[in-house]
Amino acid sequence: MKLEGKTVLITGGGQGIGQGIAYRLADQGANIVIDFVGNPQSANDTVAQIEKRGRKALAVEADISSVDQIHGMMKQAIDYCGAVDVLINNAGVEKHASIWEASEHDYDLVLNINLKGAYFASQAFVQHRMAVKKPGKIINVSSVHEDLPFPHFTSYCASKGGMKMMMRNLSIELAPYGITVNNIAPGAIETPINTALLNDPVKLKALLENIPLGRLGQVSDVAGVAAFLASSDADYITGATIVIDGGLTWNYSEQ
Ligand code: BGC
Repeated sequence: MKLEGKTVLITGGGQGIGQGIAYRLADQGANIVIDFVGNPQSANDTVAQIEKRGRKALAVEADISSVDQIHGMMKQAIDYCGAVDVLINNAGVEKHASIWEASEHDYDLVLNINLKGAYFASQAFVQHRMAVKKPGKIINVSSVHEDLPFPHFTSYCASKGGMKMMMRNLSIELAPYGITVNNIAPGAIETPINTALLNDPVKLKALLENIPLGRLGQVSDVAGVAAFLASSDADYITGATIVIDGGLTWNYSEQ
């Protein structure tokens, strides 16, 4: 087991991709702290599933758009598990809106959770790793939309494009401290963030036609890459984005 004795903090770990990562990393021996907002039932179920695997698990309710709550979350994680070795900035939201009708509220929500939250969670993590004088790993769950346009989801794309440059910058800034920073960029994965799409057969068919491998991704497709990046096998990888999209990003053909 490659993550024996490590503690991993996963924001938004009570559902979707974050939950799948939590289970996979626990299978690899890691203790897991998940953060969630609302839906304590799902967070508690996740904790129970991790404990069944014989690992320590803790669910912390923290809204990562608040810097105070981020620091509270990190402190609870450290108090419960002794340290946090890996941070996974996974929490994210998206809002469909054309620019001519987008609201300030939705724009702020998306940027505050997806980008500001990841930035200050990274800050809290880095302060902790510096205090204990140990290396660490930051893994951001970004999106193919850190590069690829997604019309009517401009706030989401701006947050993920920002996450790409945040990752590149921090990979250089934190290298002297032995802290690596990488992004995972999922394409269309079957999770709650896609509920509307999954329930719309016309949109779903159009999306599937854009995916060369001909299927949506599963949470397990992402979890395996997260487990790799969290392990010492990835010690020499920093500043990279690993795309997990069934070929979606570079799909182009002429008849
Ligand atoms: C978004 C999904 C979208 C997928 C592929 C993801 O980042 O969250 O809504 O279907 O990218 O476009």
